[in-house]
Amino acid sequence: MTAPLPKAELHLHIEGTLEPELAFALAERNAVTLPHASAEELRKAYAFEDLQSFLNLYYELMSVLRTAEDFADLADAYLERAAAQGVRHAEIFFDPQAHTARGVPLETVLAGLGRALEAAPERHGISTRLIMCFLRDQSAESAMETLEAARPWFGSLITAVGLDSAEVGHPPSKFREVYDRAREAGLRLVAHAGEEGPPEYVWEALDVLKVERIDHGIRSLEDERLVERLVRDQIPLTVCPLSNVRLRCVDRLADHPLPRMLEAGLLVTVNSDDPSYFGGYAEDNFQGLRAETGLTDEQLRRLAANSFRASFLSPAERDAHLKEVESYRFG
Ligand code: ADE
Ligand code: ZN
Repeated sequence: MTAPLPKAELHLHIEGTLEPELAFALAERNAVTLPHASAEELRKAYAFEDLQSFLNLYYELMSVLRTAEDFADLADAYLERAAAQGVRHAEIFFDPQAHTARGVPLETVLAGLGRALEAAPERHGISTRLIMCFLRDQSAESAMETLEAARPWFGSLITAVGLDSAEVGHPPSKFREVYDRAREAGLRLVAHAGEEGPPEYVWEALDVLKVERIDHGIRSLEDERLVERLVRDQIPLTVCPLSNVRLRCVDRLADHPLPRMLEAGLLVTVNSDDPSYFGGYAEDNFQGLRAETGLTDEQLRRLAANSFRASFLSPAERDAHLKEVESYRFG
């Protein structure tokens, strides 16, 4: 079998990689009771109506993550799957507030994730960055406290901040001061916008938060001027096709706007978001697009090249990966 196309994954929530089998194993290890009979039963609950219906289950299952070992096992399991799907570099989100609110200290989360990420280059051939996300449906004060609590890890383990969770009703501008502070601290900036929320949220993420990348951004297509701006400044969009279908932002993969986005000259990348919940990891998203939208091999190569261009890697690291993408031969 041909090895998968080399790629970077830039939109991946580590908590969204919790497979049902691991959830049950961790529940047993930590004597946590899950309100589902088995891993198969749990999988049957993965029929979502929208972002919120997914988030309800996503936050519920986090109850099994308690110790540093749990977080290390979670991240290591993702990295192993990602490596098998051609991922060479992963910029990984985590949701600190979802853990501290349950009484799991930030130190514990970061000790576990840090251990797995540190071992990743040698163990799985994957370099990583860690992006700390704020839950946008919680207050700006809570986000600011979280930012300050994480300061000891800035520039070592934590490279960037992001914004996720329930989008509609929680515009980026709510977090202006938090992003100002993160920028002053030298962190890189990204935010989810235009997944369920309107194009105005993408404008705000760019102009108020001054982010370098937009996570999702598919609703940008509704605003011609916004598309012009994103094309002009080559702002990367981390698009997640299988996620968009499962959360009913897009009806079917065959209708996904990604081919139109590429054609418009947008710097689009393909990512898995919460692969355990949405039916596929990075290469599964590439293969789904190829099968359902008819993207050509050269378009897939361009998407893989975009993933490294849009990453936080140094120019030398990026160029080494781009060479590998250019010389890749499709089977
Ligand atoms: N948290 C995890 N996955 C998410 C998504 N797709 N959108 C917003 N918040 C999330
Ligand atoms: Zn996401």
